[in-house]
Amino acid sequence: MDKILVIHGPNLNLLGHREVNIYGKVTIDQINKEMASQAKMLGLSISTFQSNHEGEIVDKIGSANKEGYKAILINPAAYTHTSVAVRDAISASSLPAIEIHLSNIYAREEFRHTSLTAPVAIGQISGFGKNSYILAVNAIAEYLKGK
Ligand code: DQA
Repeated sequence: MDKILVIHGPNLNLLGHREVNIYGKVTIDQINKEMASQAKMLGLSISTFQSNHEGEIVDKIGSANKEGYKAILINPAAYTHTSVAVRDAISASSLPAIEIHLSNIYAREEFRHTSLTAPVAIGQISGFGKNSYILAVNAIAEYLKGK
C-alpha cells in the first residue's frame, strides 16, 4: 500500500472557526478522516501533519522520501505565497506533490494569485472547499497508478 504524506500549513489547525465565510465549517480532523477513508478505498494510506512553522514543514518534506512516502499532498496555506524554502524542499524531495487550497486563490486578493510552490507540484487544486482534498487523493491515486 503506497504511503502518502498530507501536510497542512499555518493556521489550518483553526479550520472550522477561522473565517468560516471563506473556509467553511469543516475542521482539519474531519478533512483528515475523509481523506483517510477515500485513500483506503483507493488502496493508499495517508499520514497527516500540520504545522504553523516553516522550518518544521521543510523538515517534514525533507524526510518524506527517506520515510518511504510515495507522494505529498500539501496545503502550504500562507507559505504558498511566500516560501522559497517550502518550494525548494518539495523540489528537492523529488516526490510528486499536489498543491491544495480550500478557497479559489485566484478569486481573492492579488497577493494570493502567486504561488511559489505550484510550479514544483504536478498540479494544483483550488476552490472546492474540503472537496479539494478529496480530489487531490483521487488525482494522486490515478497518477501513481500510471507510474
Ligand atoms: C489557503 C489559501 C491561502 O491564501 C491562505 O493563506 C490560507 C488557506 C486555502 O486553503 O484556501 O491559509 O491555502
